[in-house]
Amino acid sequence: MAYTNLVVTKENKIATITINRPSKLNALNKATLEELNKAFSLLEKDEETKVIILTGSGTKAFVAGADISEFADFNVAEGADLARKGQELVFNFIENLSKPVIAAINGFALGGGLELAMACHFRIASDTAKMGLPEVSLGVIPGYGGTQRLAQLVGKGKAMEMIMTANMLNAVEAKEYKLVNHVVAIDELLPFCEKIASRISKNSSQAIQSAIKAINANFDKTKNGFEVEITEFGNCFGTDDFTEGTTAFLEKRKANFK
Ligand code: COA
Repeated sequence: MAYTNLVVTKENKIATITINRPSKLNALNKATLEELNKAFSLLEKDEETKVIILTGSGTKAFVAGADISEFADFNVAEGADLARKGQELVFNFIENLSKPVIAAINGFALGGGLELAMACHFRIASDTAKMGLPEVSLGVIPGYGGTQRLAQLVGKGKAMEMIMTANMLNAVEAKEYKLVNHVVAIDELLPFCEKIASRISKNSSQAIQSAIKAINANFDKTKNGFEVEITEFGNCFGTDDFTEGTTAFLEKRKANFK
């Protein structure tokens, strides 16, 4: 599949999606959001792919936000539609993907860019990364789930301050805030993410899919996370991976998950 604004590569069961609009600091225009939906949909079905890394091209930006030039003249209904479609098509879609998605934040992750990173299952940043939700400086608020996910990750008070001030955090501050799990040198960013992805890829994809559902249920007000955990725990007992994982343990060998 050929993309205009993305580059997708695959190696050793790890797929890397690189957002590739460097002249616009990888800003998310409509076409890029549609391509992201397509790429994640295809990789979710791809039997060769066990983990997905999402990053931005170049060393300056992960994603510098939603493409401001596309919504500057929108009215109230168009604004709401932009947020709703974006959340459905990309941000909620990634969060609920059955395969792990790691954000490799290689520079500016601002507005929709930080929201995109926050929709991923976890985040690794280069020491050059800068993160913030500057929307109120433009007269809007985060619309791709940022008001919800930032508060979930860093707590209500810090989310309020970050959004109200529109200030950026550097990578070390972002780690202190628990917004990112690790900070590494820019040259080390992708190798480091690939190492974690490789570790994940050796585990049961079926169990990981269940874990994603159960953990996400904690943040979904329509669900009881403990009940989802019970159901998903039970479901694991019906999988080939459970048979292989437990048999391998009893036979004192490494599990070989399909
Ligand atoms: N939407 C559309 N275009 C964007 C963009 C965005 N969110 N962020 C950057 N760009 C474009 C710039 O317009 C510029 O394009 P041009 O060369 O055609 O004029 C190009 O990317 C380079 O950006 P520039 O601002 O010249 O780089 P800089 O190094 O001076 O500043 C930033 C970098 C990230 C601080 C600055 O680009 C910025 O503040 N971007 C907007 C961030 C934002 O508010 N995001 C939230 C959107 S809701």
